[in-house]
Amino acid sequence: MRFSDVCAAFLSAIVLLCALNTAAQVDTPDSQSPVIDPKQTEKAALGNILFNDASLSSPPGQSCATCHRPDMAFSDGKVVSEGANKSLGVRNTPSLMYAKFSTAFYYEEWRKTWVGGQFWDGRADTLAEQALGPLLNPIEMGNSRQTLAANLRNLSYQNLFVDIYGKDVLANDETLLNAAADALQTFQMTDTFAPFTSKFDYAQKGLVELTEQEKWGRKLYDTKASCIDCHAGMGDDKLLFTQFSYHNILTPVNVTLNNGIPDQGAANNPKLSEDERKLALGRFKTPTMRNVAKTAPYMHNGVFKTLREVVDYYNDVDDRKRWGPATFPETKSHMLRTKLDLTDEEIEALIAFLETLSDGYELPQNKATASQ
Ligand code: HEC
Ligand code: HEC
Repeated sequence: MRFSDVCAAFLSAIVLLCALNTAAQVDTPDSQSPVIDPKQTEKAALGNILFNDASLSSPPGQSCATCHRPDMAFSDGKVVSEGANKSLGVRNTPSLMYAKFSTAFYYEEWRKTWVGGQFWDGRADTLAEQALGPLLNPIEMGNSRQTLAANLRNLSYQNLFVDIYGKDVLANDETLLNAAADALQTFQMTDTFAPFTSKFDYAQKGLVELTEQEKWGRKLYDTKASCIDCHAGMGDDKLLFTQFSYHNILTPVNVTLNNGIPDQGAANNPKLSEDERKLALGRFKTPTMRNVAKTAPYMHNGVFKTLREVVDYYNDVDDRKRWGPATFPETKSHMLRTKLDLTDEEIEALIAFLETLSDGYELPQNKATASQ
């Protein structure tokens, strides 16, 4: 490598590091970044820029961050997302937090269910495979493969692609698209998307104590309310509050969407055979409970507006007069209990516990130091 190359590489690394620092929204006081390879750091920083670049949609004006907002745990607060050309999607935008822990989509014998994958139906196996989805989706960012490659080639920072992926990266459309997908994936693998900085995490470490109500809620979560049956799972030795498994919990049809035609869920996954598809009807990937207080409205179709409504639903799933018709009752999860008999106080405690799972909790001692 020539000296000038080294200088150029060094400079762009600094630019990238600054970009990463300013754009990282989530405070990670005690975590050690798993991204130590300088190449990985550069890729993540490029991914961050791409994630926020609204010139990449057709028509321009929409970036990943338009629908995956950092201040809303990378969801968007809408019932369903709205695309670059104002067309309405049919699914609620999920949070991207902790999505990196989802493995490739597979069938787990002992649990008799599919597990893993990206999207509500698991149809992408990796974050890189996923990333091209919205960029090329006519009702999201609206590009064709060629226009997207041409857009990437015209970016003012196209040199960053060359620095990271080599000079040939711009020559071929597919190579360039794969590089963009790789950078977006690497960004989504950083601690920004998995900070583990909730009150719950700090309580696990003994840095803060949960209130009596929150502790009661946690107990209910594991016992009477049995949320833990589906919303459990571990990543980096910490609770993820999802196993990424697929269940049909009889979510009410959102009659305002898609002419009231229910979403078939995992049955849309092209990896399944005809017979498997019948069993997968109406099953959706179980979302994490981390940051759930920030990601309303809820469910794949945004049918519930508040956490209270969600818990009321689980408390009496069979009250269809109140909830409306269930999606595909024939595939109801054998793990779903349809009557929990939670009292009002118990429901409030359960919600108080769920609220401890939001990242970015400020420890009382840090708050005190900050205000001095
Ligand atoms: C128009 C709004 C919109 C835009 C723009 C958008 N997304 Fe999404 N995203 C969604 C919706 C809606 C889903 C769920 C779709 C589904 O399950 O079929 C989703 C799902 C995802 C998932 C899967 C998460 C999970 O837990 O299953 C990832 C990862 C993701 N998007 C990343 C991105 C990236 C990266 C970009 C930019 C290249 C992007 N999104 C742009 C709305 C959007
Ligand atoms: C049988 C498995 C199962 C059980 C038990 C279960 N859930 Fe769920 N949960 C799911 C699935 C699957 C979804 C997604 C369903 C959909 O989108 O239609 C979901 C969605 C949710 C959502 C919406 C999250 C979002 O981002 O949209 C919340 C909140 C939630 N569950 C809370 C709970 C609570 C609280 C309990 C205990 C009272 C519980 N769940 C019990 C499987 C389960």
